[in-house]
Amino acid sequence: MFFLWFLTCVCIGSVCAQQSYDGTLCSSDANYPGTRYTCNSLQKSCQTFLVYRANEQFQTVSDISSLFSMDPDELLTLNNVTSSQILKPGREVLVPINCSCSDKFFRANFSFIVPLGSTTFTEIACGVFEGLVKSVTLADENLPLQNNLNVGSMLHVPLRCACPDDNFSSSSGVKYLVTYPFVEGDDTDKISKKFSIPLDDLWEANHLDPNPTVYPNTTVLVPLKGEPVLNFNIPDIQPPTPGFLPTRSVEQGTKPKQLEKLYIAGSVIGFSLLLVTLLALGLYVKALNKWKAEHFQSSMARNSLTPCSSPRSSQLSGPTPRSSTTNSCLSPDLLVGIKYSLCNYSAEELRRATKDFSQDAQIIDYVYKGLLENIEVMIKQMRFEDTRQIIDVHSKINHVNIVKLLGVSYGENDFSWSYLVFEFPTNGCLRDYLSSSSNPLRWRQRTQIAFDMAMGIHYLHYCMVPPYIHMRINSRNIFLMSNWRAKLAVFESISAVGSSKEIETMSNIGGWVAPEHLLNGLASEKADIFAFGVVMLELISGKEDLDGKLFKESIGFLGGSATEGGCFEQLKIFLDPRLKDDYPLAEALCLAVLAKACVEDDPMHRPSMDDIIKVLARMV
Ligand SMILES: *[C@@H]1O[C@H](CO)[C@@H](O)[C@H](O)[C@H]1NC(C)=O
Ligand SMILES: *[C@@H]1O[C@H](CO)[C@@H](O)[C@H](O)[C@H]1NC(C)=O
Ligand SMILES: *[C@@H]1O[C@H](CO)[C@@H](O)[C@H](O)[C@H]1NC(C)=O
Ligand SMILES: *[C@@H]1O[C@H](CO)[C@@H](O)[C@H](O)[C@H]1NC(C)=O
Ligand SMILES: *[C@@H]1O[C@H](CO)[C@@H](O)[C@H](O)[C@H]1NC(C)=O
Repeated sequence: MFFLWFLTCVCIGSVCAQQSYDGTLCSSDANYPGTRYTCNSLQKSCQTFLVYRANEQFQTVSDISSLFSMDPDELLTLNNVTSSQILKPGREVLVPINCSCSDKFFRANFSFIVPLGSTTFTEIACGVFEGLVKSVTLADENLPLQNNLNVGSMLHVPLRCACPDDNFSSSSGVKYLVTYPFVEGDDTDKISKKFSIPLDDLWEANHLDPNPTVYPNTTVLVPLKGEPVLNFNIPDIQPPTPGFLPTRSVEQGTKPKQLEKLYIAGSVIGFSLLLVTLLALGLYVKALNKWKAEHFQSSMARNSLTPCSSPRSSQLSGPTPRSSTTNSCLSPDLLVGIKYSLCNYSAEELRRATKDFSQDAQIIDYVYKGLLENIEVMIKQMRFEDTRQIIDVHSKINHVNIVKLLGVSYGENDFSWSYLVFEFPTNGCLRDYLSSSSNPLRWRQRTQIAFDMAMGIHYLHYCMVPPYIHMRINSRNIFLMSNWRAKLAVFESISAVGSSKEIETMSNIGGWVAPEHLLNGLASEKADIFAFGVVMLELISGKEDLDGKLFKESIGFLGGSATEGGCFEQLKIFLDPRLKDDYPLAEALCLAVLAKACVEDDPMHRPSMDDIIKVLARMV
């Protein structure tokens, strides 16, 4: 089993060294692998083609040829149309382009003068150029115009294109990679028929998994052995319509329109049923919660917000995997259709990205910051054996409060070290902010961070089957986005519930370790709650406490060892002095009480993530 997987990876590393598919909308303002097609210095320029669709604004070949500033005659012969012919909206036209490599990206240079009525980069990139360039690329390319995009400004338009590399060409015979923009209703099967090429080749050239979900307003590269010829007898492509439901293939389109309607109707009914089921389950959960005696009694915790909870059969006593039938989260099967793909990077690329893994680039042990394709990323060095688990976990999760895995590198010849490439949240790790003397976090930001962390952990505990226990939560692997929302990094190999045997030596574990874990190596949700409690105490006090012991002593006053009035006084002393007096005292007390409950010695006395979210949701 392992060996098979190993083989697949090696294949991906060498043969599939083609371009990635960026499944985000043309208008999305994020750069992903595949947002621009990458090149290296060995790859020269080439002549290739792109597909453009006639539309109301560009109806004839002469309109289109003027947009691409080229000789209309060239288009006429290539597309077998006459110069005066009005093309149906959506009619595909092949446009020859010169594609070249400049600054690590392929591009076909064009220019465009902003006309009356088009005012944003998105309208130009996604409307006029139909997603052949992402608006983020267009904006980056024309930085000086960012704030005054006036009628008459001239834009540089680097359209997406790519050239096959020599080795790939000679082994596969591919001469052209044609840039093709997807519209509503497209799928890879249609494209392969339209260009008469094997489906596998199309997937491989774009680094797609078999039977991928593809999205309108994105592009793929079509690998061709000769000049492109479009077969228009494939079920008609509808003119582009707004709305971007992901489209999946509908088999054999003899009556595509009707089938599509059926499909949509089916989805609507299915979705309604699902909603009803979820509602019913929600009520059930609520009833169950009410009935259940809660051990965590907090006056602030009376709130019925239960985002995605599962009834818990009994108190957890050690690792007990929950069965998925009691879980009210969507079944993972429902998500199978959503494509998940990773980029493959070479060790060389990563070395360049991190200046040879220099000290400067290091964030924490074995974690580096790097610049890949001009995007900041976080690179985690790890043992080859451990990568699979992390990739597996990330293939099942997608949550705003969890740092996203973007790609992988299986090292060089020896597979001793591998690297995982993660997004890099712009503001870096939480610990740095809590320690830095300038720029203290405000109270609102702190409660928001606590809430975001809780949501991320809740997702791992309740929405994964089997539940995923993080075991390494600490302020160094919580990261902050530019808007100060927090994300939890899941990049260490750890055990899911039920396989705690490999946790022997505690000293090399990065998170705050619950006492019962030190005693008998129990990995349970409650151990994560403990670590979460310690991070909350850090958020409140700004201090760092490596094992939570000091915190315990300094919050003893919350347990009644102080008089009523003294409690507030001691709380003020415990709070981060940099907050000045800029916080609601009652809220601070509430957070401190909650944190204290989380770090109780007896795991049974710690609240669950459900309870915690109920409290935090009232503060943000
Ligand atoms: C999506 O593409 C259509 C044309 O295919 C375009 O009209 C529309 O503006 C695009 N939308 C976005 C959000 O990119
Ligand atoms: C060109 O178009 C005409 C009709 O417009 C059609 O009869 C002819 O077969 C087409 N030729 C090719 C090579 O597709
Ligand atoms: C591509 O480059 C060649 C030579 O540099 C030029 O003659 C040709 O017009 C260019 N084609 C396009 C579509 O720009
Ligand atoms: C395309 O434009 C870029 C940036 O303006 C430039 O560096 C590059 O040389 C151009 N490529 C060609 C083939 O003109
Ligand atoms: C092609 O393969 C040779 C050896 O197999 C290698 O040295 C060369 O760098 C490769 N070229 C490209 C463009 O990848």
